[in-house]
Amino acid sequence: PVDETLVRLLPKAEVHVHLEGCFDLADLLELAKAAGVGLPGPAATLFDVDTHDVPAEAPGAPKSTLSAFLRFLDWEGGLVRTPEQAARAAYRFAARESASGVRYADVIVNPTHWGAWHGRLGELFAAFAAGLDEAEQDGLAVVNLCASLLRQQTPAAAAELVDWLVEARPVRVVALSIDGDERAAGRTGPRFADAFRRAADAGIRRTVHAGESSGPQGVWDALDLLRAERIDHGVRAAEDPALLRRLVDERVPLGVCPRSNLALGLYPDRASHPLPALLAAGVAVTVNTDDPAAMGYRLEAEWAACADAYGWGLAEVAELARASVRASFAPPELAASLL
Ligand code: ADE
Ligand code: ZN
Repeated sequence: PVDETLVRLLPKAEVHVHLEGCFDLADLLELAKAAGVGLPGPAATLFDVDTHDVPAEAPGAPKSTLSAFLRFLDWEGGLVRTPEQAARAAYRFAARESASGVRYADVIVNPTHWGAWHGRLGELFAAFAAGLDEAEQDGLAVVNLCASLLRQQTPAAAAELVDWLVEARPVRVVALSIDGDERAAGRTGPRFADAFRRAADAGIRRTVHAGESSGPQGVWDALDLLRAERIDHGVRAAEDPALLRRLVDERVPLGVCPRSNLALGLYPDRASHPLPALLAAGVAVTVNTDDPAAMGYRLEAEWAACADAYGWGLAEVAELARASVRASFAPPELAASLL
């Protein structure tokens, strides 16, 4: 049987994980103390996405577990106030990935969650890059950054982020990303088409959250309007056979996060999750953690749980490891060395 130790030993990549979702409780306690703020609830329930209660829901805002969870990420990111703290968060992320046997990761950072840094993106990302450089020098996982928009943002805000990416070419930032709650924001593909087109034209890679809080339409828009090279989640593509064919034909990988989908109430259990159907259709599926510290689990546990639920053996998880590397934005030489 496939256990966590075996999974840890497989050279692999992680392609769908948010830096905001990777603060351990000990990190948060340290940051909260330094910021002079209290925890939003008892530590035991801090990561319980259904019960945490910070900050207050805006009046009239649509309620969803995902939206509540994203506000928790705002609280976490808001604790990081100094470049040293930001660098340390990035370093600890690389260490965390390495402990799971991840050799390369594309990590998503959404500046809207990092409230202390508005207007100082260059400083924030330079601090992350410094932490990741140090991690790499120490032999930890190689990590690149995906700068992410939030679905609620305006076209002007999107243009501002892309202007910065294109003009400043911040080190280690390889991709433009978009995440957030599509159900709360409505259909926003058209709103961001311009930003993603400009990123594509400038040679910046693209990865798009879709088919989680949106149905298949969100995935169509990600492909047609946002020039997505990879879809984060994408699980609801399973509801649309024509879309599945498109993903297979164009070899667009999905960064699937089953445990996150369960935590946020998208599917009641692993038996009803479409992961096996996506694999059977021939889609390039990867298995990832999304927000593992905030949701309380690790990558190797997730792969082992999938193997257990879906009857995978060594051959299947070894193929999953190769798929993760192929789906990543790793530099070609590094990717080749992991395959
Ligand atoms: N940001 C962090 N986790 C997310 C998720 N599961 N969906 C959308 N945006 C996110
Ligand atoms: Zn995500």
